[in-house]
Amino acid sequence: MLVSPSLLSADFANLAKDVEMINRSDADLLHLDVMDGVFVPNISFGFPVIESVSRISEKPLDVHLMIVEPEKWVSRLHDVGAAIMNVHQEACVHLDRTIHAIKEAGMKAAVTLNPSTPVSLLEDVIGELDMVLLMSVNPGFGGQKFIANAVDKTRRLRHMIDAAGSGALIEVDGGVNASTGKLLAEAGADILVAGSYVFHAKDPLEAVRSLKVL
Ligand code: DX5
Ligand code: ZN
Repeated sequence: MLVSPSLLSADFANLAKDVEMINRSDADLLHLDVMDGVFVPNISFGFPVIESVSRISEKPLDVHLMIVEPEKWVSRLHDVGAAIMNVHQEACVHLDRTIHAIKEAGMKAAVTLNPSTPVSLLEDVIGELDMVLLMSVNPGFGGQKFIANAVDKTRRLRHMIDAAGSGALIEVDGGVNASTGKLLAEAGADILVAGSYVFHAKDPLEAVRSLKVL
C-alpha cells in the first residue's frame, strides 16, 4: 500500500518538525489540503505554505484542491513544487480541458469525487487520469467519521479502471486508520491518505507502517 499522510492534522506552529518526521517515515507522498471557504466550509492554507513545505519535503507533494475554479492555478501549483494536482469533479465545468492542462504543466492529474458523486461520472476521462481520489468523508475537516459506502465505491472504481485498461491509481481520503484501511485495501485501493491517524498517534512512524503493510 502507498501512504500519503495529510499535513492538515500536523502542528502548524511546528510544520518543519512534522515534515521532517514524514521525511523519515515510510510514507510515499505528502498530502496537502487546500481549502477556499467556498467549495468547502473551511479555509486551510495556500501557496506560501506549499512552497515552504516543498523546500524541505523529500516526499512528492500530493495537493488536494478543495477550491472553486482550480484550473486557474495549474501553472502556479507546478511552480511551487506540486507533483500531483487533485481537482474536484464537482468544481470543474470543463474537466477534460483541466486534466490536459495539468499534464501539460508536468504534473500528475487526479480527479477527486465527493461521497455523493458516482464513479460513473469519470467513465469518459478514466483513460486520461493518473489517479482518482475518493472522499470517504465530506471534505473540509480532518478527524471525521469514515463513510462506509467508500468501500463498495472503491470496488466499483477498481472494476471500471481495470475494464478500461487505465493505469489510474485509486487513493482514498477521510477517516482512514488501520481497520478502515484494511477494508479499502481489500476493495482495491492503491494509496491511503491519513491525517489524524498519523499526526495524532503516539508513534506516527508506526502509524504510517501500519498502513504500509496493508
Ligand atoms: C478532508 C481532507 C483530508 C483530511 C483527512 O477534507 O481532504 O485529507 O486531512 O483527515 P483524517 O485522516 O483525519 O480524516
Ligand atoms: Zn485531502
